[in-house]
Amino acid sequence: MKYVVAAQTTELSNGRKKIVSLEGKEILLANVGNAYYAVDNRCPHMGASLFEGTLDDGLIICPKHGSVFDIKTGKAVVAGKILFFRIKVDNLRSYPVKIEGTDVLIGME
Ligand code: FES
Repeated sequence: MKYVVAAQTTELSNGRKKIVSLEGKEILLANVGNAYYAVDNRCPHMGASLFEGTLDDGLIICPKHGSVFDIKTGKAVVAGKILFFRIKVDNLRSYPVKIEGTDVLIGME
């Protein structure tokens, strides 16, 4: 696996997130408890930008229909709703992250 520098630890304090573009992919990188996690930024339901959603205690909430994903694993933990109907949502792709000095590196295939 090839690791690519995506950010500096100094620009992402605890609880912050940012979008990084790597190899044609838009990835959401987040600092949760001073550990770093990376998932696809596009919601697998209808493509909303999860960067626009709320990051709370390691969970990212889609701003469009409210699906909730575990940022550490990409797993969809709560399916959102449209009107009164619960939607079906897939898990997010997650990427391995490692730190070297102040570099935050994301593992790309
Ligand atoms: S676009 Fe994210 S839950 Fe619908």
